[in-house]
Amino acid sequence: MLKAIYPGSFDPVTYGHLDIIRRSSKLVDELIVGVLCNKAKMPLFSVEERVRILEEVTKDLDNVRIVPFHGLLVEFAAKMGAGLIIRGLRAITDFEYELQMSQTNHKLEPNVETMFLTTGIEYSYLSSTTVKEIAAFGGDLSQFVPEAVAVELMKKINTKGECNK
Ligand code: PNS
Repeated sequence: MLKAIYPGSFDPVTYGHLDIIRRSSKLVDELIVGVLCNKAKMPLFSVEERVRILEEVTKDLDNVRIVPFHGLLVEFAAKMGAGLIIRGLRAITDFEYELQMSQTNHKLEPNVETMFLTTGIEYSYLSSTTVKEIAAFGGDLSQFVPEAVAVELMKKINTKGECNK
């Protein structure tokens, strides 16, 4: 049984992440979306909120499970019994960081491999940071995130009072 981890912050999940989740779920028996719990990154959404949102937008994918994690990714992979990490590559600017991360992970745990999927060209510009900025200024999010995510974003930003400044 081939089990893989697709790790990330997902703050929030975008259509770019969903593209990778859908495509990689077809390549493996089980895909675990690992949601990093790292308060140092000061996420907009708590890890519980990110897990809940991801569960909602992947509910049609039977072999996808959303699991929060903290600490080292390779330790999480071992705990889950997964020998494969999947990451998306949007552009050459992602490459250096991703190369360093995959090589570090391979040094830490040689039994875990990293596989890269190139992001669909229509999402190559997209990031959670950009989406949060558009949301903060009240822009139309429909091209970037599913409706459920847009609703959560607007709720969160209105609560934080960052809108319409
Ligand atoms: O969505 P992101 O923020 O690009 O995801 C980054 C993530 C979660 C994959 C990365 O920060 C990570 O694996 N963090 C866990 C800590 C770790 O294992 N670090 C060593 C590898 S460099």
